[in-house]
Amino acid sequence: MSELAQRLLAWFDQNARSLPWREDPPNPYRVWVSEMMLQQTQVETVVPYFERWMAHFPTLEALAEASVQDVLRLWEGLGYYHRARALHRAAQVIIAERDGVWPQKAEEWQSLPGVGPYTAAAIASIALGEPVVALDGNVRRVLARLFDLDMPVNTPAGEHELKRLGQEHIPPERPGDFNQALMDLGAMVCTPRSPRCDVCPLAELCLARARGTQAQRPVRQPR
Ligand code: ADE
Repeated sequence: MSELAQRLLAWFDQNARSLPWREDPPNPYRVWVSEMMLQQTQVETVVPYFERWMAHFPTLEALAEASVQDVLRLWEGLGYYHRARALHRAAQVIIAERDGVWPQKAEEWQSLPGVGPYTAAAIASIALGEPVVALDGNVRRVLARLFDLDMPVNTPAGEHELKRLGQEHIPPERPGDFNQALMDLGAMVCTPRSPRCDVCPLAELCLARARGTQAQRPVRQPR
């Protein structure tokens, strides 16, 4: 395992946010629902919605059999209702067309309604242990600073470079923890403004910190 991954995971073991979908072993249904809720909504807002959802629809089967009215009612307040409809439709697809068998790879997850490349990578790494980097906003910022990337991250080339750098370090033993550690580090330490480099477990490996460019990373191309 790279030194970066070792330090990051040691930090995660001590500092991970305690979240209801983080379980050992992970439950694919709960990981999937959480990632759908987290697409456009902050972690703190999601937690109570997630708990209420699980009380009503504890399993994939329960969700597939629910009425669309019940599904939308439990989503009420989260916004972007297409996500709720997509979850409901995908549950029915998994039951009816896949015999209740979860997709096993990120690529297969992407064929389900509402699941894009980021969500597919997050679910496959966390729930199924596939070593794929899940690039959300926090992860992009952390990686752009670690490697002092001067390429705009919101371009295909920048995206490709971030993915390549992440893939070099993601450990096959703990890919989901690696991704979630980057998410937590970005949320708690490597924040957009005033990053807390003094408490960062990766400070000594961080090129932006060495060069004083934290505030200029990530670079974004205006659009
Ligand atoms: N944002 C999206 N997915 C997340 C996860 N699994 N943990 C923390 N933040 C997230």
